[in-house]
Amino acid sequence: MSTPRTLRTQVAIVGGGPAGLALAQLLHVAGIESVVLENRSRDYVEQRIRAGVLEQGAADLLDQAGVGARMHRDGIVHHGIYLQFEGERHYVPLSELTDGRHIVIYGQTEVVKDLIAQRLAEALPLRFEVSDVGVHDYETKHPFVSFTHEGERHELHCDVIAGCDGFHGVSRATVEDRLRLHSREYPYGWLGILAAVAPSSDELVYVNHERGFALLSLRSPELSRLYIQCAADDDLANWPDERIWAELQLRVALDGWQLTEGPVLEKGITGMRCFVAEPMRVGRLFLAGDAAHIVPPTGAKGLNLAFADVAVLADALSEYYASGSERGLDEYSDICLRRVWRAEHFSNWMTAMLHLAGDDPFARQLQLAELRYVTSSDAAARTLAENYVGLPSDHFAARAAGDHNRRERP
Ligand code: FAD
Ligand code: PHB
Repeated sequence: MSTPRTLRTQVAIVGGGPAGLALAQLLHVAGIESVVLENRSRDYVEQRIRAGVLEQGAADLLDQAGVGARMHRDGIVHHGIYLQFEGERHYVPLSELTDGRHIVIYGQTEVVKDLIAQRLAEALPLRFEVSDVGVHDYETKHPFVSFTHEGERHELHCDVIAGCDGFHGVSRATVEDRLRLHSREYPYGWLGILAAVAPSSDELVYVNHERGFALLSLRSPELSRLYIQCAADDDLANWPDERIWAELQLRVALDGWQLTEGPVLEKGITGMRCFVAEPMRVGRLFLAGDAAHIVPPTGAKGLNLAFADVAVLADALSEYYASGSERGLDEYSDICLRRVWRAEHFSNWMTAMLHLAGDDPFARQLQLAELRYVTSSDAAARTLAENYVGLPSDHFAARAAGDHNRRERP
């Protein structure tokens, strides 16, 4: 076999999803070189339909990375959500409860397209369709990533490896024996559709129904995104479009309101799990986003957590290259995990409150008691609202104030 071609960069980024691409862009703005290695094609990565809700902090991060223009033009600012149960729809005024904070509806597909377009426009290294990726020597000061691209074997030498390659990636898998892994699987999943029809509701609607959870979301004034709870091991073959619409109609029905149907453009089933790997660092390999943690989607936190991680990592790397100090790198895992565990708790709470879990009348009454409380008590509604729009981070507050010595509160 021929000798691998040797390349060199400051930060090798494995994975060109939202975490890897955003990190690369933040580093570029800070004057730090990186190479992004993605094992799928550009087309595949840009078409992969996933999250849709950006916290205000995530939207701010896209601005900071210089790629917020299209989000400001096409993203839709929302100030509340509805919770529906016992045949009634209750408004939770997110902005009113959080000093004016909001969320932005802007699909992950669009975020990824914007980040890729920017990277390629600036002719910065981003390689699609790499294979046989391996991370090596991460316990030394001279780590490297091996990979094959266009039939040629390469070794990318670097100062730091960022493992942004998602839940099924190679980065965490390589170091799992050095980590504590926490996980929880749910006995149900979500069947999601993208439909070519104007959203029937002005805000997202989360529905607790005796037939199971449902969610009305959107991507644009012409595109609806809708979900229903299904079995964890369900098969899409069981769900022709007519059955999906019929089930949605039953679960979201409300007197005096109509769900409008339209052509289904895409559908898929997602399993639901909580997962956390601790710590999020082994030597010079830093894990970020889904590579380190997964939340059930009910709290709309997955993409936002990925962005929060890379913002902390970009700051730590900027400090390292500016001063040689490893303090930020040493604090990276602890700072991120505080936010991660808060999001795990919130996502688990939302999931438990809204999904049907077996035939347990006592559990059902507890859910309804909780929903009635959240929709009638200001304090309880505020708890939901501040978590949903994203809790402010002491890390970012300190950075905004220019105080890099301030520590994150526990
Ligand atoms: P990913 O988006 O997984 O990106 C990782 C990238 O690494 C991918 O492009 C992958 O191709 C690449 N990769 C993998 N292995 C390798 C390798 N060996 N070498 C190189 N590259 C590699 N969140 C929500 O908030 N709402 C939702 O509705 C929602 N729906 C989801 C549906 C699905 C099916 C999934 C899987 C996730 C969903 N999420 C949702 C979560 C959200 O999309 C993720 O949290 C977000 O994508 C995390 O970004 P990431 O960059 O960390 O990981
Ligand atoms: C989405 O629009 O895909 C979406 C919205 C809210 C969630 C999860 C997914 O909680």
